Amino acid sequence: MVKLIGKKKINCAVFISGRGSNLKSILSYSKKNNSKINIRLVICNKPSVNGVNFAKKNKIETKIVNYKNKYKAEKKITNYLKKNNIELIFLAGFMKILSKYFVNKYKNKIINIHPSLLPKYKGLNTHKRAIINKEKFSGCTVHFVTEKLDSGRIILQQKVKILSTDDYKSLSKRVLKVENKLYPKAINKLLSNF
Ligand code: GRF
Repeated sequence: MVKLIGKKKINCAVFISGRGSNLKSILSYSKKNNSKINIRLVICNKPSVNGVNFAKKNKIETKIVNYKNKYKAEKKITNYLKKNNIELIFLAGFMKILSKYFVNKYKNKIINIHPSLLPKYKGLNTHKRAIINKEKFSGCTVHFVTEKLDSGRIILQQKVKILSTDDYKSLSKRVLKVENKLYPKAINKLLSNF
């Protein structure tokens, strides 16, 4: 469990790379009375994507980080996190792999959502691979981030049935809707003791 004691709201950052539908759902969850989180910062590796526009409209401090040099990028990110007293990080469609150094610095404080039923289909193109392998279900998983890609402890997972008519686009669309509900649910579960 994440040990964050003695405060009402936990300062959180959301890392994104694009559309930002999970950012949206985490933000609306954070505004609920019983939520224990406060979204203070959005980090994105791309300028002018939908998620960035959404964050700015909602007056969340938003930083675009150039990822040409991962070491420099992570150094900048660490400074932003410190300045904003960030205690918990949510990866929401963040398409960069964090270094071992960064992950260990924020051990047990980085959460991710992955569009598959982990441990199956780590990495990219999850739904495409699930359909090719004639799986009955795909789904999504909220989990802790560790040094190993998509392998940290699972917080919550939900199945989504693959229909005979599905292609990877229709399946990702359906799973995304489930993701948007599962992420807040997982955060709530994680922080239920605080
Ligand atoms: C989601 O499917 C997430 O699981 C994956 O990237 C997608 C991001 O979607 N890692 P969004 O930007 O939150 O809409």
